Amino acid sequence: MYRTHNCGELRAADINKTVTLCGWVQKVRNLGGMTFVDLRDRYGITQLVFNTETNAELCEKARKLGREFVIQAIGVVTERSSKNKDIPTGDIEITVQELNILNKSEIPPFTIEDNTDGGEDLLMKYRYLDIRRRPIIKGLQLRNKMSFEVRRYLDGHSFMEVETPMLIKSTPEGARDYVVPSRIHHGEFYALPQSPQQYKQLLMVAGIDRYYQIVKCFRDEDLRADRQPEFTQIDCEMSFVEQEDVLQVFEGLAKHLFKEIKGIDMNYQFPRMVWKDAMEQYGSDKPDIRFGMKIHNITDKVKNHGFKVFDDAEYVCAIAVGGCANYSRKQLDEITEWVKRPQVGAKGLVYIKYNEDNTIKSSVDKFYSPEELTEIAKFSGAGTGDLVLILCGKKLPVLNQMGVLRIEMGNRLGLRDKNIFAPLWVVDFPLFEWDEATQRFYAMHHPFTSPKKEDYDILETNPGEARANAYDLVINGIEIGGGSIRIHDSALQVRMFKLLGFTEEKAQAQFSCLINAFKYGAPPHGGLAFGLDRWAALLNGSDSIKDVIAFPKNNAARDIMIDAPSKISDEQLDELSLIIKPLTDK
Ligand code: AMO
Repeated sequence: MYRTHNCGELRAADINKTVTLCGWVQKVRNLGGMTFVDLRDRYGITQLVFNTETNAELCEKARKLGREFVIQAIGVVTERSSKNKDIPTGDIEITVQELNILNKSEIPPFTIEDNTDGGEDLLMKYRYLDIRRRPIIKGLQLRNKMSFEVRRYLDGHSFMEVETPMLIKSTPEGARDYVVPSRIHHGEFYALPQSPQQYKQLLMVAGIDRYYQIVKCFRDEDLRADRQPEFTQIDCEMSFVEQEDVLQVFEGLAKHLFKEIKGIDMNYQFPRMVWKDAMEQYGSDKPDIRFGMKIHNITDKVKNHGFKVFDDAEYVCAIAVGGCANYSRKQLDEITEWVKRPQVGAKGLVYIKYNEDNTIKSSVDKFYSPEELTEIAKFSGAGTGDLVLILCGKKLPVLNQMGVLRIEMGNRLGLRDKNIFAPLWVVDFPLFEWDEATQRFYAMHHPFTSPKKEDYDILETNPGEARANAYDLVINGIEIGGGSIRIHDSALQVRMFKLLGFTEEKAQAQFSCLINAFKYGAPPHGGLAFGLDRWAALLNGSDSIKDVIAFPKNNAARDIMIDAPSKISDEQLDELSLIIKPLTDK
């Protein structure tokens, strides 16, 4: 037997036991006649002690150990004279009687400690060493516990895990596909699934009734801190349900996870907000409701005072930033430059300082009397001592910009406490999204999402206002998951395709399988999918989902550890009948 215990296990109750431990050498310290070795494994760190007086040869062997050597130590659990309160094994140490070097190690490229000296590229290149570090192990352990608890909860609610294929058909709607060339079928390609959407609906037609799958999905899209080209969904679908049933079951799952993973009891119904309010009050379809600073529409209040910028604007809106009336000119200039960055896209920023002494100072005081500015400030939610920030432009873009500014001010003022979790269902999403570039409507969710019954009548006459039976779970401003009730009635589906500009041939070419399947008794159904990576990162207190993925890609979608993507041999290309075109400047 290589080991009797692991390195995180032994306590004062084990004193005098003879034990065998295995692990990696984290640190060697020589103090006079004693040598101390920190031995690490996945479970923790245990101190080994070697004494020159009792065994000089063994002590010398310990002194020569290098960082990350793999060793086996046999010895007796002893009480430590100077206890280490920071680690669970800190009351004991192992007085070693036998030391075996199982493998040597080269000097690692960075220190394998909680706070390492390695930069991101280096850590990713040697991810197998990075994973030895406690913060990364902690993230993977949390993720593992989450998957386990998801399965436990869903299994308890009669959900059945069914695997669906990874090599599927490419569909142009949605994000860009990753494609895989077929060797057997000349010139044909599979696509990797962006999600198992069609398969899970087919499983409902098949009578599976309650399906789930913890499943890899692939999307070739621009990467951000919360996006990876391959990520994991907790994908779910249910038959014979309405929106309320779906929300109840999955609110239950969310509560189960918060309880089991974080020990938090959420004994209340998650708040719900319609999409329109989310956009108008928070400037986002994923509002962070841990703090207020709501957006106010001040268009009517500011127009017709001779300030051309506001007079010409479709929409003017404001937020009140608590306690910031004392911001200096320099600070305000800096925020103005910040909102003008292309990532935010505002043209400029107007402010009103509602000072503690009741006086008013504004960048537009030429156009408005102090009384008018005070009224605008109060209407925007400000009291004395607060700063009002105002943006204007076209309605949706300016609300989005204000939403970004609101989050930034929330960050600057420390209003986004990672230990507070504020879940929210955003409901009643629009059914369609208008695209200026192609001058057509797209399905905001996907073409099988059902409209709200109340809006059936306006589908053709006012499609932009039609709402969907679609919902997102948002926690702390992060879209954790989303889904919808699907259309199961073929007449309604035909209407939807028409509205989306699909000819019958085009609909058939892309979705023939689902359309045909629906002819054979499709039950009413709906579901959703959660982003496991995002949820795990949130519960782990991580800013990036990379922290909870064992082998993530970098921001250029590259696995720099294994060097993927990479070129393939001419033989492989020949077999696939592929020719690589030279790169041209577009
Ligand atoms: P959707 O596209 O909203 O819905 O995806 C569901 C959830 O998956 C997560 N997610 C991602 N996580 C990491 N990296 C990405 N690139 C990424 N893209 C999405 C998000 C998101 O909320 N089939 C539908 C679900 C349904 O209707 O049932 C779907 O895929 O947390």
